[in-house]
Amino acid sequence: MTDIRNIVVLTGAGISAESGIDTFRDAGGLWEQHRVEDVATPEGFARDPGLVLGFYDMRRAALGDVRPNDAHRALARLEKAFDGKLLIVTQNVDDLHERAGARNVLHMHGELNSALCNICGTRSPWNAPMSADVHGQRPECPACEARSLRPDVVWFGEMPYQMERIYAALREADLFVSIGTSGAVYPAAGFVRDARELGARTLELNLERSEGSHWFHESRQGRAGELVPAWVDEVLGS
Ligand code: OAD
Repeated sequence: MTDIRNIVVLTGAGISAESGIDTFRDAGGLWEQHRVEDVATPEGFARDPGLVLGFYDMRRAALGDVRPNDAHRALARLEKAFDGKLLIVTQNVDDLHERAGARNVLHMHGELNSALCNICGTRSPWNAPMSADVHGQRPECPACEARSLRPDVVWFGEMPYQMERIYAALREADLFVSIGTSGAVYPAAGFVRDARELGARTLELNLERSEGSHWFHESRQGRAGELVPAWVDEVLGS
């Protein structure tokens, strides 16, 4: 692996599973407990903002009870020790990569700890509930003071964040690694094809083969907490 200079890592819910955060599509996952169209679309929010704000308030509050696991820590270790470029693109809205020490992280589906104002478009750091308080008031936007905040999370039908930076990194990548994602949601699910067509080697680390598994040069099955530290050792040891 001595010729590897640019790595792009894509992570999904599976990397946070061992920290105790529910994935979406595994048995008992979030999309079995909640309807996507109710809690993860602009139309659902327009229909019932209280339900949607409550869903993300619950998930934001749950971040207080979880910790990064060995897979998050291994990626942070790689970022520090690797003498090439590493970009972590995550579909996750939790902050476990950052809490493990990683800095070069793009949250393409937004973040639970951020609020987006529907009026002025400002994104503000946010770690409190967004639902209405006992007086029926929703919190104010720190920028324009409108009571029009929504979770800064990308919903179905919306454009993910940072796509230009992600495609620029994919063009440069000589290794693309996908960790803990089912490959069910585009555009992230298409990154493996893009990276491969642009000349990168491609590796999947996932509990089971993902939907796009056949696009990868190599697929390893197992828990992220085991596979990721072992792969990082390989990269750093070479
Ligand atoms: P999914 O729930 O679709 O997939 C999680 C994947 O992680 C599955 O393939 C599991 O087999 C795997 N997995 C579970 N536990 C694991 C472990 N301990 N180690 C390694 N792999 C494990 O989650 P995502 O692919 O992240 O989008 O879902 C993509 C997007 O769909 C999410 O960002 C979210 C969701 O709808 C939005 O909300 C816009």
